[in-house]
Amino acid sequence: MKGAIVYQGKYGATSEYAHLLSKELNLPVYAAGNTARELAEADYILIGSAVYIGKLSIQRWLFRNREWLSGKKLVFFVVCGTPGTDQEKTAKIVADNIPPSLRNSAVYFLKGRLIINKLSWTDRLLLRLGAWFTKDPAEKRRMLTDFDGVEVSALRPLLHTVQLWELEKSKALVHTHY
Ligand SMILES: Cc1cc2nc3c(=O)[nH]c(=O)nc-3n(C[C@H](O)[C@H](O)[C@H](O)COP(=O)(O)O)c2cc1C
Repeated sequence: MKGAIVYQGKYGATSEYAHLLSKELNLPVYAAGNTARELAEADYILIGSAVYIGKLSIQRWLFRNREWLSGKKLVFFVVCGTPGTDQEKTAKIVADNIPPSLRNSAVYFLKGRLIINKLSWTDRLLLRLGAWFTKDPAEKRRMLTDFDGVEVSALRPLLHTVQLWELEKSKALVHTHY
């Protein structure tokens, strides 16, 4: 197996991106769980996660599997409300959630989806509490407003990275054969 995708989310945005990537790159896709054996065969792994109150949904899986993961080529896609251009917040999400031994990988931030009336009452409450503790009024409003940023075009830079890896690999193969 050349590569594989593993992901964890809750309301579907992360799963959608993972399946779009699977289709574009023709790679198998797994929900994080008892997947380590299948993934251990892969040369490279795309790891996707949603963010809830600053925490990656896949954080626990990452820490549990960090030893063998550190020997792989990895690329992360983080699905959330924080725009990739907010360097302070994105750096904090990486520092708080990705084990140090895996931090030299590329991390892409993708806009997810928030439909407030589809959330469980506990998540709605968490979101309201989070907004209540947020001082900046614009950010407070943003946190309590629906958004849907899931689109295949957001994956372009990530697809480019993986396609370059594939190209390098095929070049290396040509070199060993001639
Ligand atoms: C309770 C709650 C907390 C959230 N916390 C954050 C957060 O801390 N940072 C962020 O950027 N996005 C946050 N979001 C937005 C989610 O990351 C976004 O909706 C994402 O698309 C969820 O992915 P999923 O559909 O795969 O579960 C939060 C959403 C909810 C409902």
